[in-house]
This record gives sequence, structure tokens and C-alpha cells, in this order.
Amino acid sequence: MNVRDGTRPGTLYWIDHYVVASANLDRWTDFMTRIVGAQQPYGAGRAARGSIAFQDITPCCHHGAMLSAEPLPASPGLGNGLPRHGLYIRREDVDAHLRRLDEHGVPHLDPVRTSAAGEEGVSIVWEDPDRNQFEFWAPDHLPEGAMAYATPLGVGRISHAMYESRDLQRAADHFDTYCAVEPEVNSDTEKDSLVLRLVGGVRIIYKQVEHLQQRTGGWGKLQANHAALVVRDDDFWSNYERMWQRLPEWEWDRENKEFVGVGPDLPARTARHGSPAGQRWFDIRGRGDDWYDHDTNCFHFMGGAPRDGAFSKYEPHTMEWHLPRYLDEHGERPLA
Ligand SMILES: [Fe+2]
Repeated sequence: MNVRDGTRPGTLYWIDHYVVASANLDRWTDFMTRIVGAQQPYGAGRAARGSIAFQDITPCCHHGAMLSAEPLPASPGLGNGLPRHGLYIRREDVDAHLRRLDEHGVPHLDPVRTSAAGEEGVSIVWEDPDRNQFEFWAPDHLPEGAMAYATPLGVGRISHAMYESRDLQRAADHFDTYCAVEPEVNSDTEKDSLVLRLVGGVRIIYKQVEHLQQRTGGWGKLQANHAALVVRDDDFWSNYERMWQRLPEWEWDRENKEFVGVGPDLPARTARHGSPAGQRWFDIRGRGDDWYDHDTNCFHFMGGAPRDGAFSKYEPHTMEWHLPRYLDEHGERPLA
């Protein structure tokens, strides 16, 4: 599959990174180095400093874990917990990945051939020592760019992220309005699933549930749990602007350094982002560049510039990159 041109302004191309929660960051990063082949960023030593640790999976995507001050919410078990994050592998490598999981004693399900979430392929579901859920995904047709870079263990970029939703239509409307992504219609897709395919070929998948588990940012304890969704650099500010015009802001209590109210009854909203640029922007504009769906899942946009003219490899641009350019052009005047 070729990386298509975005047909709608503001549409999503890739999932740049995700962050999950961990009780032990050194354990988590060591595990991910052994199982995924993720590397400490920029060739530095151990990444587990402070309360969050990042690792590169490929030069185009990374992942991280935040230290949870409290015991992590209970896991409903291997394959049942959400969110679940998927990583591409090649079909011919399925056995090798399986062997590695077994050698390291990683709990995993048997490989299964499935087309339940919009495409045909082989899935191996596994979990990390904190019982966060992952999946190696070997589709029959790898999107261009899926393995443009791979780790030394043959793991490619993030293939999908699977979330809970109490109302699939509401989740679809949210992504249609704010991310210019429409549901994929496919007769194989299970009825309890919503598949949102991004331009690069990767998927955001929502599963219908009645009650939400609690390993997401909107419950107030694991606020670093999120995924970053890549848009063209040109769409970065306009996508946020659309949200800031229509969605409420999660109130930030500056004195106590915490959000006001938490939980699944809060509406979709934007929220102060803890990064230095995110904090600065919040001080300037009073709006945050994190955003939440209706079901406690947290995201932010990430700008991207095509490399070599194609978006199959892109140069990632965070708020730290965009904000100084914005301020050079506009000063500290609010956008609207
Ligand atoms: Fe992020």
C-alpha cells in the first residue's frame, strides 16, 4: 500500500509514539530492549530518569513509560486489557518473534490469523511486566513505511492503538470533526469495533465496552498515558484551533498543580500539556495541547514533514519545535 495523500486537511498520518504506565522504569526499558529491540534515545545511557522514560523504537517512532506513584489499576488479563498497542513485524518473522517471547518468559497468546479489525494478518498478543497490553502485528500487506526502519530484532513502527469506547458513533464523530478521519467500512470488521485508518496505513481501533478500565490519562492518575498522532506541519495549529474553538478546557488548578475533576463523565476536552512548550503555550493562550476523547483516552498532535518527498518517513516536530516558530511570527498574542 502506498502512503496516500491526505484528502482532507488536518488528517492523521501515523502514530508517532505512545506512553504507558509502569511500576519500575528500569525494568520496563530493559524489557522493551530485550523484546522489541527499542533503544535508549540518542545513544544515551539509561533513559529511566525522573518519572518518565522514553526509548526509540525506530528513528520515526518511539515509546515511553511513566512511573506510577500508586499501584497500577488491575489488569483484566492477557488480551483483555485496553489500551493495547501494536507494532509491525514481517510475516516471515512470526516464528522468530514467538521464540523470543518464549525465551524471555513473556506471557502471550498463540498467534492467530485474523481480519477482525480491518485487515488480514497474524497477531501475537503479549503483555509487559506491568500488564500493559501489546501486539506484534504481521499484516498480509505491510504499508509502505511500516518497516522503513526496524529495530535490531525486526520490529517496525507502531501499527495500531486500540482503545475503549462506550459509544462508537461518538468516537467516530470526534475523529471526523477534529482529525479529519472517517471510519473504515469493511465487512470483516467486528460489530463492536470502530476502525480509523490513518493515511500511512496504521489504525486507531475502538472497541465498544460498557465500563472503562482505568489505564488511561482521564482518570487523573496516569496523565502521561497517551498517544501522539501525526499531522502535516501545516495542519498543526489549525487542528488545535478547531478544538480550542469547540471543546472545553480541562480546568487546571495552578496552586495545587492538578486538574479539577477527573473520570469518565468529563467531556472530550483539551488539557494543559506537561512538556515545557505545552506549559508555556498554556500560560500564553490558556489552552492545552493535550486532548481527550469522550472515554478518558489522551492524545496530542505532532507535526510531521515528509522526508525525501514521501510521508512514509517523516521528520517529527513536537510543540517544542512549533512554538518558537509560532512566537517568531505572531509574538505572544493569542491566535484568536
Ligand atoms: Fe507525547
